[in-house]
Formats: sequence, C-alpha cells, structure tokens
Amino acid sequence: MNHQLIITNTTEFVKERLKNDATGHDWWHIHRVVNIAANLAHSEGADAFVVKLAALLHDVADWKFFEGTHAEAIAVPRNWLNSLGVEKEVTDHVCEIIENISFKGAGVATPMRTIEGKVVQDADRLDAIGAVGIARAFAYGGSKGREMFNPAVLPEMHQSFNDYKKNQGTTINHFHEKLLLLKDRMNTKNGRILALKRHEYMLGFLQQFESEWEGTN
Ligand code: ADP
Ligand code: NI
Repeated sequence: MNHQLIITNTTEFVKERLKNDATGHDWWHIHRVVNIAANLAHSEGADAFVVKLAALLHDVADWKFFEGTHAEAIAVPRNWLNSLGVEKEVTDHVCEIIENISFKGAGVATPMRTIEGKVVQDADRLDAIGAVGIARAFAYGGSKGREMFNPAVLPEMHQSFNDYKKNQGTTINHFHEKLLLLKDRMNTKNGRILALKRHEYMLGFLQQFESEWEGTN
C-alpha cells in the first residue's frame, strides 16, 4: 500500500475510534496534533511519514481511557499498522514514540530517542497548553466530575507515574502539576517558541481566574 493510502486509511480508523470521546482525546485533538507535528517536522527535517502516523495513532489506546493492559494498548496501533503491511522498521518506530509520549508527573523524565519522537511529543504537548489547552483541561475535569478549583486542595509535584495516575485533584491544580511545566520540556526550537506564547496566555488566564474567585473583581 502506498504512503498516501496508509495515511488516509489510518485517518479513518482513528476518527472512528475516537469519535465519542469527551475527555479531550477526541478526533480534533488528533487533527491539531497532526498539523502542528507536520510543521515542526518540516523545520526539523524529520521523517514526515513516521511523524504523521505517530501523531495520528498516539492516543488510540491512551492509559486514561483504554481499559486493557499496557501490552494490549500498544498492540492496537501495532496490529493496525501490520494489517496495512507497513514495514516493520516504521511500525517499531511509531510504536516506540506512542509508548514514550506521555507526561508522567512533574518529577518523571520522558525522553524521546529520535527527532520524529521529539516532534510528535512537542506537538501533543502544545495542544495541552494555550487557549485550547485550557479548554481541554476543563473538558477533561468535567468528564471526570472534578472540581474546577478548591483553595483547600494544594497542587502536588508527582515523583512517579503511579502517583500522577492516582491523582484526583482539581483542574486548576492540573495547571501547576503539568501544564505550566511543559514549556521547559519542549524538544525543538520552534516548539519552544510556540510553547512560550501559549504559556504566557495561560498565566494571564490563571491570574484573572484567581482575581475573580473571591468575587471581588
Ligand atoms: P495529551 O493528549 O496532550 O498527552 P493527556 O492525554 O495527558 O494529554 O490528557 C488529555 C487532556 O486532558 C490534556 O489537555 C490534559 O491536560 C487534560 N488532562 C489530563 N489530566 C487532567 C487532569 N487531572 N485535570 C485536568 N485536565 C487533565
Ligand atoms: Ni494526545
């Protein structure tokens, strides 16, 4: 199968799998990540085919909503790529990116080995910050029945993926526990430039939110 057809079929597969999601992993998140990743790939000279496949498939079995084991989760994109006859080298690379992409807590490093992985990780993280990132955080929090904010619940700097996963805090705390940390974890130059702009926007939002909280502003 040629590359274009593989991308078209994979796009349909991902759209179908994520169409009912309300936790911020819907198709439009993928659509945005694919576009950001394509731009970063261009300036970084990364392999556009690997980047596109990894961006398309990065959330098809995310730990936040997939109910099977870790091995079952990573089998989803692998089986899909195998069914299209994608070369083993490309499939292995795409699966490696998907396995390593996620944020795992403030104190946990999430290194990426290849430039293609760095690009897709930056694109995914850019979509978690800025105006869209704010919207996604409250959509996710709402879908889990979380409080928006509670001054009595303090942010935690998680030192293990397990602690991060168990966290039940407020959505405002998620900004301190993840979103505000992302600008310093970008891998690429252009990713960092975009992240800084989105970071500033979130700081303005948080300041306004806090000043409205007591009803005095
Ligand atoms: P990504 O797809 O960018 O890797 P995640 O899979 O970690 O992001 O989460 C999906 C979206 O939900 C992101 O925008 C993220 O910030 C948000 N999110 C994840 N955990 C929480 C949380 N505890 N509270 C609020 N939003 C969250
Ligand atoms: Ni994602």
